[in-house]
Amino acid sequence: MRSAIVLAAGKGTRMKSSLNKVMHPVSNKPMIGHIVTSLRKAGVENIVVVVGHGAESVKDYLGDSVQYALQEPQLGTGHAVMQAQCLKEVEGDTLILCGDGPCIQSETIEAAFAANENSEMTVLTAVLPDGERYGRIVRGSNGNVDRIVEAKDCTEEQLAITEINTGIFCFKNKLLFENLKEIGNDNNQQEYYLTDLVEIFNRKGLLVNAMIVSDPQETMGVNDRIDLAKAQKWMTRHECEKHMRNGVTIIDPDTTYIDVGVEIGQDTIIYPNVMIQGETKIGSNVTILSNSFLRNAEIADEVTIDSSKIVESKVGAHTTIGPMSHLRNHTEIAENCRIGNFVEFKNSYFGTGSKCAHLTYVGDADVGSGVNFGCGVVTVNYDGKNKYRTTIKDGAFIGSNCNLIAPVTIGENALLAAGSTITDSVEDGDMGIARSRQENKAGYGTKYKNK
Ligand code: UD1
Ligand code: CA
Repeated sequence: MRSAIVLAAGKGTRMKSSLNKVMHPVSNKPMIGHIVTSLRKAGVENIVVVVGHGAESVKDYLGDSVQYALQEPQLGTGHAVMQAQCLKEVEGDTLILCGDGPCIQSETIEAAFAANENSEMTVLTAVLPDGERYGRIVRGSNGNVDRIVEAKDCTEEQLAITEINTGIFCFKNKLLFENLKEIGNDNNQQEYYLTDLVEIFNRKGLLVNAMIVSDPQETMGVNDRIDLAKAQKWMTRHECEKHMRNGVTIIDPDTTYIDVGVEIGQDTIIYPNVMIQGETKIGSNVTILSNSFLRNAEIADEVTIDSSKIVESKVGAHTTIGPMSHLRNHTEIAENCRIGNFVEFKNSYFGTGSKCAHLTYVGDADVGSGVNFGCGVVTVNYDGKNKYRTTIKDGAFIGSNCNLIAPVTIGENALLAAGSTITDSVEDGDMGIARSRQENKAGYGTKYKNK
């Protein structure tokens, strides 16, 4: 059985925030959320989150997907683990990690459990050019880890050690709980340090193993907003590299932000300054040009998106979007469509091969296939109190600058004359025209100019 304890009770003073530290988002998801996702991916069944400061916000966010232990007051990382008594009798191994380390990947979690198979305790360490404020790994003459010394408790000599404690440990669960009681608080901060277990295990002849994490950034702890930006940078880069390895071209990974969990098909090209968020799924051979923003979007193959925003909406294959279009609120654009310059779609369906190329608002409309919109069409869906739907059937032609006052239905192959304000439905094959007749006044132009 694989279990995990995530420490998230600390105040996070250095964040200078009213928000609990572990609730600060990286790539649009609270840090604690990333950790829980990675634990699940690595097959961890029991997850206990130790909460204290701002406990409610963490519980509201994670819900009953995990168990909780309350730490009140917060007397250190060792004291935090003592609160997870619900795991006391569980067989198997337990991973302990800090809620402020959002970048940890499931592969590393699996490696930690594997490393502990023939050991009683495994410390995940990393090598940094400067050990900063991390606990230092003190190794004995035989190369084994003797103990961990917190930066605040280090001698000059110990501070020079470059191998640090990532704060991630794997334990034989029962041995963890048997030995927790032995941790004291005789140190500079009068806290119960979890790290003291290294010495305790060694003293009892229990096996302590170390696993060096190859990329120290993956295990970084976020203590302030500067660290938060570093974690964001790392995650951004890491996600981009994952997609590039899968056959996606990302022209500038430094300015491309892709949330964890986004899916992108092969041979898709992403230009600089693009954000792709949430549960977005993108097909293959898609081109996403600069300044596009996608959230919870579903994009089929061979689509081109130019400087556009697509939120909670779907786009069919071979369709082109933009420049400067906005699709939102459950809009669905079918295959082979063209959505052009400055066009907004809201909660609407647009059928196969239909075109809407310029300066148009389509809200609450159901549009068939092969429909052509001229420039500047408005579906007038709102009367200030209620919203109504517009229906446009296959093959209809909507002239430029028409207003369709909903609710209204335009029949198959019907034609709306440019500049019409349509208040009544038009039958299949008919033409709707709603504008006053033009009158020309001979010579009036010259006369006016010379006046
Ligand atoms: C800790 C480690 C340090 C390691 C570093 C890695 C200890 C004593 N120190 O230091 O060796 O290099 O992490 O990032 O373990 N927390 C609680 N209850 C508490 C105290 C802390 O739940 O009483 C939680 C915090 O919310 C946080 C995590 O434990 O998520 C780590 O605490 P923090 O104060 O950030 O420890 P560091 O000083 O960074
Ligand atoms: Ca920390």
